Amino acid sequence: MDGIRLTEAELGEGTLAEEEQSYGRVGVTFGDVGTTSLKFNVSSPVDKGEYIQIAHPDIGWVLGQIDKIERQSDLSVEKAKELNNGNEVDIDDTVIATVNIIGYRDDDGLLRIPGNPFRAGEPVYLAEEDLIRNVLGLKRTREGAFIGKLRGHDIKVNMNINAIAQKHLSVLAKTGSGKSYTAGVLIEEMLKNDVTMVILDPHGEYSSLAKPGKKRDSKKFDIEPRGYGEKITEFSPNPEINKDAQPLKFTFRSMDTKEILEMCGMSKRQTYVNSLENAKSKLATTQGDFTISEVIRLLKGNEEDNSTTLIKGLERLKEKKLFAGKGSRLDEIVNEGRASIINLRGTPPDMQGFIVDKLASSIFELRKREKVPPLILFAEEAHNFCPQRGKVECSDTFRTLASEGRKFGLGLGIITQRPAKVDKNVLSQCNTQIILKVSNPNDLKAIEKSVEGMTKGMKEEISRLPVGEAIISGAGLSEPLLVQVRPRETQDGGESVSVI
Ligand SMILES: Nc1ncnc2c1ncn2[C@@H]1O[C@H](COP(=O)(O)OP(=O)(O)OP(=O)(O)O)[C@@H](O)[C@H]1O
Ligand SMILES: [Mg+2]
Repeated sequence: MDGIRLTEAELGEGTLAEEEQSYGRVGVTFGDVGTTSLKFNVSSPVDKGEYIQIAHPDIGWVLGQIDKIERQSDLSVEKAKELNNGNEVDIDDTVIATVNIIGYRDDDGLLRIPGNPFRAGEPVYLAEEDLIRNVLGLKRTREGAFIGKLRGHDIKVNMNINAIAQKHLSVLAKTGSGKSYTAGVLIEEMLKNDVTMVILDPHGEYSSLAKPGKKRDSKKFDIEPRGYGEKITEFSPNPEINKDAQPLKFTFRSMDTKEILEMCGMSKRQTYVNSLENAKSKLATTQGDFTISEVIRLLKGNEEDNSTTLIKGLERLKEKKLFAGKGSRLDEIVNEGRASIINLRGTPPDMQGFIVDKLASSIFELRKREKVPPLILFAEEAHNFCPQRGKVECSDTFRTLASEGRKFGLGLGIITQRPAKVDKNVLSQCNTQIILKVSNPNDLKAIEKSVEGMTKGMKEEISRLPVGEAIISGAGLSEPLLVQVRPRETQDGGESVSVI
């Protein structure tokens, strides 16, 4: 029997029977047994994704995860035909699980994989919670961002906030799978930890972070409703629609000529550059500061200059009410330990690109000079701000932030329903990923390329994830984990609207 069953000494205290009872034996290894993967025949029901533990002759308990389960049978097509005809046939079958070995912690606390194989005929047990915690590095702690619990276990998953901020984050999922909800959970945790944030919010979904959510009767999660109104300021270029928001305004003077002409949508730009430059520099010398109205007035009074089209363009731009004598202060938008929501609801998409570009590039400049605190810039519907195909106003800025932001303490949070449509140069820089259900094959490919350490089984799982479950990778976690996202403390801003 030696080599098949562990001796009492190898198991430590207690008899084998007791150990089996407490650990829940689920099968025995067979065939070719490796160091990183092995197979066992399943004797008690287990699920794909379940954590198991198996004793290694030199190391003791090692953690693994079931990556694949299949029933192997001797049922041939001929026999299946017989069954179809109503005849009885004998079927010999057995359920086989393939395990991906995660490893063990060595004396220095480092995650290691055994250097030589496990034994064939070794019993496999459901993993004990303490072993899962220890190997996956999920400590019982209040530190970090409590995003949810390990699927099927009462084990909290806390993401390392510094790792998120320093290495950029992406939240990826098809529409309606819970991106905004999950991003909301993460932002709640960030607010609790005094992380400075700016949230680009095209649909006005994040204002609800200020309000407490419903009381939930959840056995699994003990979440008390609360609002973060005292830590959130909302800004909007369109405060008429978004009544709770402070106006987001720019000074006309801070815009360069090229930007202004692009905003006016004037195709034959070069023709107008000189007229506009002249008007601006005249006003700058005579009165220092100036407004868009003053530039229009000056151009109108300029007899010899035929600037009718330019004036019309500027008048159209003025109607958008983006400019004011006094612009919004960036040090009020990037406010230490607080979040600013840039509510872009009601702002036309072309204007959104300009606004985001101006805002993001100015914040980055100030951050480089340490005039504003380190921050995370969340971009909801990011495929619109940094598309893979074509170019929008803020495309280049996002690329720069993705490649250089982290050096200067500016982390990105990219939220999108179309990973394949986000600039790969941006997505590939996100080392922390929260992936919810995705089914589009191109999006799945884009995700597979950008996530490290995901097993084949996990990749298959992405298209089957129920709402509220996520695969989380990076953020200080040693392995990608399947997590049941915790309920929101605040109101859910993206709740589906009932038609009837
Ligand atoms: N962890 C969760 N627990 C409970 N409900 C959730 C959870 N995640 C999402 N939901 C619900 O699922 C629905 C869709 O979520 P959400 O609006 O976050 O999706 P989305 O991916 O942002 O969609 P869209 O692409 O339309 O913006 C919402 O009604 C939300 O309340
Ligand atoms: Mg959403």
